[in-house]
Amino acid sequence: MDRQMIVAGNWKLNGDRSLVQEFTDGFANTSFTNFRPILCLPNVYLATVQNTNFGLGAQNLSEHLSGAFTGETSVAMLKEVNAEYVIIGHSERREFFQETNEVIAKKLKTAIDECLTPIFCIGESLETRESGSMYEFLAEQLTSAIEEIGIAGINSCIIAYEPIWAIGTGLTATPAQAQEVHAFIRKFLAEHDQDIAVNTSILYGGSVNAKTAPALFAEQDIDGGLVGGASLNFKEFLEICQAAEQRG
Ligand code: PGA
Repeated sequence: MDRQMIVAGNWKLNGDRSLVQEFTDGFANTSFTNFRPILCLPNVYLATVQNTNFGLGAQNLSEHLSGAFTGETSVAMLKEVNAEYVIIGHSERREFFQETNEVIAKKLKTAIDECLTPIFCIGESLETRESGSMYEFLAEQLTSAIEEIGIAGINSCIIAYEPIWAIGTGLTATPAQAQEVHAFIRKFLAEHDQDIAVNTSILYGGSVNAKTAPALFAEQDIDGGLVGGASLNFKEFLEICQAAEQRG
């Protein structure tokens, strides 16, 4: 996959039909030349959205293809309702649903095998950052994925760096802090494959809003954002998209 500017909204457990309609109508009247926004909606709304000029994404998928797994959604089901992307490894899935690096690696493989693009999230807690083991921690998250999908699999992913301490807290990482970690991720990938490192889109996530987006997106290794809270307000999300379009 070629490296590109990407802004993906992650609605989490929020939104309703009328918000979906507001975004669908809003984007119908908007065009971008440099990139296409992505919205990762709750699964039940994916099937209600048709003919959009934004990419559709899910927020989770089962690592299993089918079977007796009550409450789960398969990759084939997501594709049938036109999802092209899926968030995998979000810190909320890791923390509240006990998803380990191993489970996340399996989910990445399931998505890639069926040509759904993972938005693969990694990120450290404040405790890990302050203990000085942040880079080892991030390297471990990346390594366990690479062991399952190979470095070639990373070529089929979008990576999102989301420091847990910045998610939903209003505490955005500074552009310099984010750039430093993005450069580390690219360097880490380059140790496996230089071309893949250059071509991987690496998004920043954690309290991105219309004010903070332009300076973050100006950093050389930041290729856009994964946006939670600010993706629930059309006007604000559009401004973030416009910041990406300008950089694009
Ligand atoms: P936030 O969430 O923008 O509300 O901090 C980002 C995310 O969890 O992806």
